[in-house]
Amino acid sequence: MRKAQPPDLSQRLSEVLARTTPLLPPDELRAYVQYHFDRRDLYLEVLERHPLPLYLQESSILRDRAGRLKRAFQKVLPAVGFYYAVKSNNHPDIARVLFEAEFGLDVSSGLELEMALNLGAADIIFSGPGKTDQELHLAVAHADQVVILIDSFGELRRLESIAAGLNRNVRCGVRLTVNPDGLWRKFGIVAQELPAFYDAACRCDHIQLLGLQFHSSWNLSPDPQVAFIQLLGKVLADMPVEFITRIEFIDIGGGYWPAQGEWLQAAGTPEGKLQEALGKRAGAVETHHRFPAATIEAFADRISAAIHEHLFPIVACRICLEPGRWICNDAVQLLISVVDKKAPDLVITDAGTNTVGWERFETDYCPILNLTRPSLHEKPCHILGSLCTPHDIWGYMYFGDDIQPGDILLIPAQGAYTYSLRQHFIKPLPSVVTI
Ligand SMILES: Cc1ncc(COP(=O)(O)O)c(C=O)c1O
Repeated sequence: MRKAQPPDLSQRLSEVLARTTPLLPPDELRAYVQYHFDRRDLYLEVLERHPLPLYLQESSILRDRAGRLKRAFQKVLPAVGFYYAVKSNNHPDIARVLFEAEFGLDVSSGLELEMALNLGAADIIFSGPGKTDQELHLAVAHADQVVILIDSFGELRRLESIAAGLNRNVRCGVRLTVNPDGLWRKFGIVAQELPAFYDAACRCDHIQLLGLQFHSSWNLSPDPQVAFIQLLGKVLADMPVEFITRIEFIDIGGGYWPAQGEWLQAAGTPEGKLQEALGKRAGAVETHHRFPAATIEAFADRISAAIHEHLFPIVACRICLEPGRWICNDAVQLLISVVDKKAPDLVITDAGTNTVGWERFETDYCPILNLTRPSLHEKPCHILGSLCTPHDIWGYMYFGDDIQPGDILLIPAQGAYTYSLRQHFIKPLPSVVTI
């Protein structure tokens, strides 16, 4: 038998190095920057009443996104439930606005569950790996408000024992992993184990298994969700009819990337990362890249077509969604100011990347707008935070005529996976203003 050929590493390396991740179209960038400069008075008015730095949370943007996402999916599916993924931004004001917009809340810890209960939410789903007994106890104690998405056979056993102890019946679903091979195997059970899980759940007197859940992250297109829906259809086709008739919901998770796409510095592109690993410069900081993303309407159309084709012929149930990033990304702006100008092309700001929780802008590109000296011209300058680490970077360029100490800078669209990841590291965190 012929042995499989090892992949030609040098050829693969050359392919990646020769790749050019698409550029962010300059017109789109300019329109985005103009949109935020047009809102300058709104930002400056808030700053008349509140000191810098601050997170500005805009309820009207949240409501707008919530409405658009709902319309997109309600148009193509008969019965849909919407649950805001609290982890994407766990500020209670954000959850409150979405709760008022008739979203349920998707929580992943006892902390998030307590917050949802304190808001008075009556429609909560609790998912996530490694739920502790204490967290399960809290969920069971509020079984009228909470559906528990079970993550494993072990969790099923613990939940049954806790529910029996409290003499409560609990409405549940089970999470299916979308990738049993890599690190994603930590989430849920493998789809092929569903028959065994159903048998085990049938032996639990306090568990009502009513649904299924899966989730895939960072989807620029609906392809990953569509692929899993197809697989799920095959698995469900082999399930006993008693199981199928019980199913009230299939929760297809979140993972919808905002339509502006993924904006990257050269160092964030595959070819840039490889250049850096080879000890070279990733590319010019003046070049901005973008992986395009589908609109939410395109997500809804393709996902619903897959559901109609692969799931509804077997099970006619409610479809639930758990969007996070798509809803809250654009709804929070970060306002900071320049404290020190150390060179014509080097300024230090009053807030550091502990406010976003990770070294985001080493790889992600976000335009920095000088609200004090607005201009659509982008100039090179190292804009760095005040933490004692060289990784504390906002960016290498700014939109403005000039930049001086005291200038107010806008880092737009910092609503998703930033506030939730903020760190108490060296400097105080910005205050939060909700409008
Ligand atoms: C189970 C689950 N649902 C929903 C989400 C929200 O995903 P996104 O913010 O990408 O929409 C996540 C994010 O990690 C998740 O783990």
